[in-house]
Amino acid sequence: MDHDVLLDAGYTVPAVPFGEAGVAWLRSHVARFSEGADHVRRRGLAESLLSTVDVAELERPGNPVAKLAHALGLPRDVVADVSVVARCYQPHVPVTPEADLAVERLVALCGARDEVAAARIGLLVQACDATNALIAGKNPPVPLTRRVAPSGEVVEVSLADRLFGDGRHGCPGRAHALALAAGTFHSLHRGPSPLVLPNAWDFASAAALVQAGFAAIGTTSLGVAAAHGIPDAAGLARAETLGLARKLVRLPVPITVDIEAGFGDVRGVAEELAAMGVCGVNIEDGRGEGLEDPVVQAGLIAEFKAVAPHLFVNARVDAHWLHVEEGSTVERALRYVDAGADGVFVPGLREEGEIEKVVEAVPVPVNLLAQHDVRRLGELGVKRVSTGSLLFRAALGATVSTAVAVRDGRPLSPVPSYDEIQALAGL
Ligand code: HEM
Repeated sequence: MDHDVLLDAGYTVPAVPFGEAGVAWLRSHVARFSEGADHVRRRGLAESLLSTVDVAELERPGNPVAKLAHALGLPRDVVADVSVVARCYQPHVPVTPEADLAVERLVALCGARDEVAAARIGLLVQACDATNALIAGKNPPVPLTRRVAPSGEVVEVSLADRLFGDGRHGCPGRAHALALAAGTFHSLHRGPSPLVLPNAWDFASAAALVQAGFAAIGTTSLGVAAAHGIPDAAGLARAETLGLARKLVRLPVPITVDIEAGFGDVRGVAEELAAMGVCGVNIEDGRGEGLEDPVVQAGLIAEFKAVAPHLFVNARVDAHWLHVEEGSTVERALRYVDAGADGVFVPGLREEGEIEKVVEAVPVPVNLLAQHDVRRLGELGVKRVSTGSLLFRAALGATVSTAVAVRDGRPLSPVPSYDEIQALAGL
């Protein structure tokens, strides 16, 4: 480039009008849209906040914005508000009333409407879309920025050769971004032994599993549906599933959600889950007692990935589960991988030779149910082992046998105390 706009002091970031509240307040109090002494002071605040963050902590698997929020002393479940604000942070994008409300909630959490609060919120907003784009493999994650020329003309500057910008507005969060992106849910599938993923059905079951040291939590669609008195795999539990996800994102581990076949609205579900800060989903190709056409199913997966490319999509092939078209498993799996699936889940696959065949043929992590010893599954190349509905069924079994023991005057098995359960709400 002959003339480097990013290094030329005559080219400024777009000026923003002063705002007393909402997105307008945020824009007019962050380094990103300031120049001169305001910029130096506000950038200093952002850098000093960043210097308090332990970068190594950001490498732990989880949602990037949730991890950064926690590191900056804010709750993990601010992700939804941050992503609403990120959508209209740039001055050329119209502000939505939802985004204004979201900024106000974030200000309230910061405890003051000052430049430190703006710097804290600004860091989260800056990190949000850019880091998710990096995780999704978009290159460059931020394609361009804008500057106002001395003539007043707005020019677009490509960031293809400088991913983190340059000059006085260059990204101060580069190391943080790389650490956040390294610590994705995806990385848990690359370990030497399989990721053991327990499936919860409500906040308490998930929190108890986190407390027991599990690195990530899934949900069980049977558990979620049955707990609400509705049948599983019938597409009826959308509200319950999303409602549970909204609660689980408070927990300090990646959350992956079983969305059955997408509840007839893959796009809307993807949007909501991505905004909440969920890290992955399971999408199944079973439909009643048969299987969806693999081309149609691949279309659903592609639609999900188009909306939420940074989420880990675990494509479930139900051929063995339903004992139909079992020979189509690998072909289906490959089609789903082509459509963007990050992992393949084959519940009901038990025969060792068959497991090896699938692992060898499929270029992404393979997930099975815990129907074999985990160590053996690891030797066979399986990268993720789920409990499916097992824990929910175990809990129901224990509930009934405990009640019967009380009724019949038989001794009770040990159970967690009242105080231990109360403490889960604080996790
Ligand atoms: C892949 C992830 C990221 C990319 C590609 C990226 C890229 C950029 C770029 C290109 C700019 C300069 C914009 C301009 O000159 O107009 C910028 C600014 C900024 N970034 Fe990042 N960023 C990322 C993640 C982060 C993270 C994680 C944080 C915070 C922890 C962060 C905080 C900021 C801040 C505060 C600014 C404004 C600096 C100023 O105006 O002085 N960024 N980023």
